[in-house]
Amino acid sequence: MTDLNAVKDKYIAQIGEALDLKALDDIRVTALGKKGEISMMMRGLGQMSPEEKKIMGPALNGLKNDIAALIDARKTSLEDAALDAALASEVMDMSLPVGRTSGTLHPVQQVMEEMAVIFSDMGFAVAEGPDIEDDFHNFTALNFPPGHPARDMHDTFFMVPTRGEEGAERPTGTEKSPDGEKKVLRTHTSPVQIRTMINQKPPIRIIAPGRTYRCDSDQTHTPMFHQVEGLVIDKDIHMGHLKGCLMDFVSAFFETDVDVQFRPHHFPFTEPSAEMDVRYERDGASIKIGSGEKWMEILGCGMVHPNVLRNCGIDPNEYQGFAFGMGVDRLAMLKYGMPDLRDMFAADTRWLSHYGFNPLLQASLVSGLS
Ligand code: DAH
Repeated sequence: MTDLNAVKDKYIAQIGEALDLKALDDIRVTALGKKGEISMMMRGLGQMSPEEKKIMGPALNGLKNDIAALIDARKTSLEDAALDAALASEVMDMSLPVGRTSGTLHPVQQVMEEMAVIFSDMGFAVAEGPDIEDDFHNFTALNFPPGHPARDMHDTFFMVPTRGEEGAERPTGTEKSPDGEKKVLRTHTSPVQIRTMINQKPPIRIIAPGRTYRCDSDQTHTPMFHQVEGLVIDKDIHMGHLKGCLMDFVSAFFETDVDVQFRPHHFPFTEPSAEMDVRYERDGASIKIGSGEKWMEILGCGMVHPNVLRNCGIDPNEYQGFAFGMGVDRLAMLKYGMPDLRDMFAADTRWLSHYGFNPLLQASLVSGLS
């Protein structure tokens, strides 16, 4: 019969000599693995007489537990030693400059974050909607009558059904997608108003930043551009709230007192509707916001039309609200002096590193927006 003490001494010696985790694991496999020496000895218990078993059973179990505990203890001490060695040899120089080799935040991203900071300080939450919209959310629910010219004014990109779908051979824009609704690339962020009002009970106070699309391209238009929508619905909301909110916003955004004027306008989804202009002047090639004799339109706004509220299941006799929508890219150009809108989306890394923002410096009302 094997001398268990000799087996134990052998493994104690080996474990003590194991210099790394790999060597230690090899010992574990040799002793305690499925076909390991101690495991095989335990398997041999079956062939023993009851008297032998009575002695050898507990002895083998004890041996197995002792070896396992020794391996565990050695493992912990090897791991501690490895960690100490790493800590002693790996030096981190925290004084090295970070440099600007990383990417930059696109000005559009920066400006959207600045807007979110300003509006969240006024209690607005951020809402989102899909870029691929249906006719209902993009137009119908926003009180655009069917066949109304305003739908064409938006230069809408209509989605063509893929081959094999019903109506695939018909010209773009005339067919319906399988769920019975024409799909469009949203022409504005206003459909997020509808999605929010359908899914949420008033009071509502949201902004909705995002991409928008119109079939238009020149020095001041790109087929894809960005808007931020705003919506406030509550009891007793009036035009004064709208004006105060937007006046506070532009002064915070341009980081100077900005004079504004509201001009009557028409949008199907607001009544009354207005456009807001900011005072500005040209200073050589650049534009100065806040002073001068000229006015520049920067956003559309108005009191939410009762039909829009009704379309979303909100009673206009109980709730009112205001909405606004503005072009982010244009506001970014105005604030940071970029001359051509198309450069924004040309993906030229020289332009991006010149006009981009340090991603580590987050916009905030306390530390400054930019
Ligand atoms: N959706 C309008 C556009 O893209 C902008 C707009 C105007 C949004 C008035 C509004 C609003 O919410 O009240 O031209």
